[in-house]
Amino acid sequence: MVFIIILLLMPTTISGADLLFKDCPSRTYTANSPFENKLKLLLQSLSSNTSISGGFYNDTIGNSSDRVYGQALCRGDVNSTVYQSCVHDASQDIFKSCKAQEAIWYELCQVRYSSTQFFTMMLYDGKIPEKNKQEKNVSNPNQFGDVLKNLMKKLLEQTAYTSKHMFATGDMKFSGRQSIYGLQQCTRDIPPSDCYKCLDIALTELQKCCSALEGGTIVSRNCNVRFELDQFFNDIYSKD
Ligand SMILES: *[C@@H]1O[C@H](CO)[C@@H](O)[C@H](O)[C@H]1NC(C)=O
Ligand SMILES: *[C@@H]1O[C@H](CO)[C@@H](O)[C@H](O)[C@H]1NC(C)=O
Ligand SMILES: *[C@@H]1O[C@H](CO)[C@@H](O)[C@H](O)[C@H]1NC(C)=O
Ligand SMILES: *[C@@H]1O[C@H](CO)[C@@H](O)[C@H](O)[C@H]1NC(C)=O
Ligand SMILES: *[C@@H]1O[C@H](CO)[C@@H](O)[C@H](O)[C@H]1NC(C)=O
Repeated sequence: MVFIIILLLMPTTISGADLLFKDCPSRTYTANSPFENKLKLLLQSLSSNTSISGGFYNDTIGNSSDRVYGQALCRGDVNSTVYQSCVHDASQDIFKSCKAQEAIWYELCQVRYSSTQFFTMMLYDGKIPEKNKQEKNVSNPNQFGDVLKNLMKKLLEQTAYTSKHMFATGDMKFSGRQSIYGLQQCTRDIPPSDCYKCLDIALTELQKCCSALEGGTIVSRNCNVRFELDQFFNDIYSKD
């Protein structure tokens, strides 16, 4: 309870502690097992190596027969201070509340671990965060949906093929005064063609769930997509 209150009091832009989705299958591991000990070391490494990682880091603990694989990704528009605190919080949370081998998504970072090797292998396992349900309906869904589609199509090409770190943001006007702001990102261990594939599926899902809403987010292992009616991301050119 105390933990929850602290999270609510912290501005999300600093901590990134806004939980989007927690994916913890029921398969469990034993307390104080070799797996748990390795997991501890792994999460420590993900949290403490943020400064050398440029917003994306993977590490492996254990020897060849018995390994734990972990990966941390920060949203492409946040600086290393925010990244560090987000990965730190996510790692603590994942260790406390996920006694299984899985991932967690915060607004500004995601952390994943597994006992099987998953680096470089694209898997689409899209999740729809609960917060989408709090979004209002738009008043002109047809026109809005078309603009959303065009914006996301443009960002899809950029993210997969021309952006620096498989991260792109942008906006497009849909009425005299209002714009849609979009964001897309892939984990950088997959090739551009897989990034494209992942985003393409996520965007189809996003259109289905959310194209008549004032905002929507889909998170997946290797890619994330989001849009809002306000500029929810930072100007990446002012990033450290
Ligand atoms: C990553 O962090 C761990 C501490 O958890 C440290 O022992 C290790 O040297 C770091 N790796 C690099 C490449 O700095
Ligand atoms: C991280 O993943 C890359 C492949 O994307 C691999 O080359 C590298 O060895 C991995 N690093 C660790 C520490 O596992
Ligand atoms: C791998 O680790 C296990 C226990 O963690 C140990 O028993 C085994 O000897 C290790 N194997 C190698 C090749 O180091
Ligand atoms: C990092 O970003 C946060 C939130 O935008 C900001 O408060 C902080 O001053 C930034 N830190 C650095 C070192 O730029
Ligand atoms: C939004 O539209 C859907 C159907 O398109 C409807 O079921 C829902 O009640 C609407 N929500 C609000 C808040 O008007």
